[in-house]
Amino acid sequence: MNEEDRLTHYRQALDFAQQQVERLVERHPDYFPIYTVDGRWAHKGELWTDWTGGFLAGMMWRFHRATASDTWRKRAEHYSQLLEHRQHDRNVHDLGFIFLNTYLPWYEHTGDEARNSVLVQAGRTLAMRFQQPGQYLCSFIGPHSLFIDIMMNVPLLFYAAAQTDDAALRATAEAHCRTTARYLVRDDGSTAHEGVFDPETGRFLRQDTHQGLRPDSTWARGLAWSLYGFGTVYRYSGLPEFLEVAERNADFWITHLPEDRVPYWDFDADLDAPPPWGAQKDSSAGAIAAGGLWQLAGLTRSAERALAYRTTALAMLDALVDPEYLAIDTPGWEGILKHGVYHTAKNLGVDESVMWGEYFFVEALQRTIADIQPRNQPSASPAH
Ligand code: GLY
Repeated sequence: MNEEDRLTHYRQALDFAQQQVERLVERHPDYFPIYTVDGRWAHKGELWTDWTGGFLAGMMWRFHRATASDTWRKRAEHYSQLLEHRQHDRNVHDLGFIFLNTYLPWYEHTGDEARNSVLVQAGRTLAMRFQQPGQYLCSFIGPHSLFIDIMMNVPLLFYAAAQTDDAALRATAEAHCRTTARYLVRDDGSTAHEGVFDPETGRFLRQDTHQGLRPDSTWARGLAWSLYGFGTVYRYSGLPEFLEVAERNADFWITHLPEDRVPYWDFDADLDAPPPWGAQKDSSAGAIAAGGLWQLAGLTRSAERALAYRTTALAMLDALVDPEYLAIDTPGWEGILKHGVYHTAKNLGVDESVMWGEYFFVEALQRTIADIQPRNQPSASPAH
């Protein structure tokens, strides 16, 4: 795709995304869906865990910042406020997903300290998950369990620590990242979904999975969370050890992507076997990794790596804006991106639209457009 075509397609995809979110809030006011069923946002069905509210509200903030529309600002504030009580939620490890995509843009937009207090409280609540013996923030499963996904939430601790000059909170965040790097990220840059520990002694027992194929496989979304998350914690901390992990994740990602640049749900899936356990794509993992690679291109010290990250991110987005993935030519489909996966073993949201896929797709399109559009055109979106 040449650059002009790319900009046209990406902008068209963003317009479509706005339309789909607009329809969703008109049809289902004050409702935070997580995945579709046959392309329609589901009102019934298991959540497994309640972690995705920040993605819908986060898209509203992104649309507001891109368009300066008052309607999107009002919606973004309203939907963010519906999530405010979650700052005290001790049942999930996902407070970064919820608050960094809502109260952070709100605070950045207004400078209102009351919004910042919510962010800081959410960071402190998340820190209560810290397991001293094992040195990690535990997953919602229990004190013995460490998830790779938490790498996307721990930036909230770095943020809260910086805002309050809290060295102990920052040390907690760094310790979590080091434990994750040691036990969940393999030498070749691939990742396990879960680490299981003895909660009394903190001894590491084994790698395991809930959403991937096997304990020793590489669940595609888990690798995307790691790549993006370690890049973000390097951005917050400046510690090169975290940049090295993100680069190792990126190496694995780039060398294992299929030819069409959209990952299968697990890098170890048997592609001769049928979906859902075999050749099933996960477009949401592609959208997350595209944003993560784009971020990493701006962080790495190697020009060669930066080029490879940008080239791969664009190739992935080029594939995702095709109507094979973008629901633009699929009448009645309520989501933006098709062929996402939530939880294969539980048969939740398999080959459907999933709310984090929508958010990270919008984010990656906005970031890339801001960087690649001709310099004499006003930016249509924030750079981050
Ligand atoms: N549990 C977070 C995810 O599905 O990626």
